[in-house]
Amino acid sequence: MTEQKPVTEAQATAVPKTPALPDAQTVTEVQHYTDRLFRFRCTRPASLRFRSGEFVMIGLMGDPDPKTGKQKPLLRAYSIASPSWDEEMEFYSIKVEDGPLTSKLQHIKPGDEIILRPKPVGTLVHDALIPGKRIWFFATGTGFAPFASLLREPQTYEDYDEVIITHTCRTVGELTYGRELIEALKEDELLNELIGEGFWKKIKYYPTTTREDSPKMGRITDLINSGEAYKDLGVEPLNPEFDRAMICGNLAFNLELKDMLEAAGLEEGANSKPAQYVVEKAFLD
Ligand code: A2P
Repeated sequence: MTEQKPVTEAQATAVPKTPALPDAQTVTEVQHYTDRLFRFRCTRPASLRFRSGEFVMIGLMGDPDPKTGKQKPLLRAYSIASPSWDEEMEFYSIKVEDGPLTSKLQHIKPGDEIILRPKPVGTLVHDALIPGKRIWFFATGTGFAPFASLLREPQTYEDYDEVIITHTCRTVGELTYGRELIEALKEDELLNELIGEGFWKKIKYYPTTTREDSPKMGRITDLINSGEAYKDLGVEPLNPEFDRAMICGNLAFNLELKDMLEAAGLEEGANSKPAQYVVEKAFLD
């Protein structure tokens, strides 16, 4: 028989307060890059295990229903931009003025709570590729996010001799997140110790812009088709024997690049059937 004791005031206040949101995580850092792009970090659920390159559903509570006053979570799929070993989570997001979620999400500040459903999924994972010598990461816009994770993942450098990351954006400012992240790899003591001193020398970074002047203008698809990208990078053209690839960008880009890889003889892989390339649509609100 349990003894019933009266609840004193001290005990009542010691009861943990219920989180305001289901699956709530706390924002720890926010950085804005342009009026269209920002990144943020948040706490990581203790039980969450994921593979670098996967995505989760994240979001905020929607506005109260005018009739019932009830609020429903407003969730979208977001690639996890941090690597699997990181104790925090990082996300890279677009801001859309009238986007249901990003019009609100762009205003988050450290200390705020977001919803993060701890169920990671996705095809941009090393498990979906068969062994190769060189890996290509092809991104446009916020499609860089899963590669921000994979570029900080030790397995990327264990599995491949060369890592080529292409990033096509409209403007120079939209390249900043990726450029700074790659620059920071050189100085990252933990990663140089974990992966091996100078691991970053395996990376060939190829940023291009389409609507603002920069050292390399044009869509990556055109630059590959013309052979210019191979020449600039000093690499051999795509070869299904050695090359593996991951694609993440807007829909038209994904489809075009997929056709190009297929024409070069690469086959699409999946978790259940690893092959030579994988593709995923970047989040758009
Ligand atoms: P463009 O400016 O020529 O449309 P967005 O911000 O609209 O998602 O686009 C991101 C980048 O992807 C832009 O530089 C855009 O170039 C480029 N892009 C759009 N569609 C394609 C495609 N089919 N192939 C290659 N790049 C593309």
